[in-house]
Amino acid sequence: MEQSHQPPLRTEQEHEEEVHQRVHQQCRDLVSSLPVVEGCSYPDLCFHDGFFQPVPAMVAAMMVQKLFEARPTDIILATLPKSGTTWLKALLFATVNRNSSPSSTRNLATLNPHQCVPYLRELYEDGARVPEMDSMPSPRLLATHIPFHFLPNSIVESGCRVVYLCRNPKDNFVSMWHFINKFRKKDGREALPLEVSFDRFCQGRSHSGPFWDHMLGYWKASLQVGGCSVLFMRYEELMKDPVVELRRLAEFVGCPFTQEEQANGVLEDIVETCGFERLSNLEVNKVGKRTLFRTMTVDNNSYFRRGVVGDWMNHLTPDMAQRIDKIIESKFEGSGLAP
Ligand code: A3P
Repeated sequence: MEQSHQPPLRTEQEHEEEVHQRVHQQCRDLVSSLPVVEGCSYPDLCFHDGFFQPVPAMVAAMMVQKLFEARPTDIILATLPKSGTTWLKALLFATVNRNSSPSSTRNLATLNPHQCVPYLRELYEDGARVPEMDSMPSPRLLATHIPFHFLPNSIVESGCRVVYLCRNPKDNFVSMWHFINKFRKKDGREALPLEVSFDRFCQGRSHSGPFWDHMLGYWKASLQVGGCSVLFMRYEELMKDPVVELRRLAEFVGCPFTQEEQANGVLEDIVETCGFERLSNLEVNKVGKRTLFRTMTVDNNSYFRRGVVGDWMNHLTPDMAQRIDKIIESKFEGSGLAP
């Protein structure tokens, strides 16, 4: 009998792996050709399609853009780093899972909010491994720092929901400056001087920056009708009236609180559980660690510092404050976005 010389058929999984690895290599090649500048926090920020990212994050952002397939039921949290992502992740996770079985081990007492709501970047940054997205139950809760214009088409076309949380850029900057200096200290490096970091921030050289374009991109998307819907939230408003903001969030993501839940204080319970004091004092957030960009080890407690509004006043001079205010005024002019 004649022998067949046909190569064995590849399984779907092998095909997916091959595509994943090829796309990863293409993204790495492209990123390695991009200009790199020193950022306000990370030393190696590359610039592509109008925004800055640390080099490994840019590779992952491109992977996400090319390969992530959104479901209409997905809920995507979008933020600039240090604008309250950890808090919002906790609130969303607690809200969506408020009726899950008491025996479930997936809860805020056992998991850090970043494990509850993973970053898309982290799911796609391993060039060798295809992330297990299909087995995630709906609604998938996912997070990203990618600017709106660079999101995968499927997010916009699937009509899924995007929640954007922003923060006063002066507090955002101060929070980032503290965060990055913790690492430098741990690595035995000198602190990055505030003035140097600030100057780069004002030039737009920040993770996922320029910050003004990031905010404006999601702001404009939140005003659009059709496509994905974007809920625009602010850290300061969440701080001022957390119950009202949580109700708005729950309605937007399709998990509104019933009259009975409202009467029984369920909203207040979630707000308290996710509040700075409670959350930061949970064992998992005090002692756990996670990995950033597959190389940096981050203590979970680095995501909790002061958690207040207006801490910039303790760090920025009046001239510095005026410089940011002027940038915001000129960039936001005519957009309807209040500073
Ligand atoms: P500060 O450095 O100003 O204290 P992110 O989660 O996006 O990395 O943002 C971190 C900032 O959010 C930090 O701000 C942190 O203290 C604050 N934060 C973390 N959890 C919070 C919570 N439950 N309530 C309010 N702020 C919180």
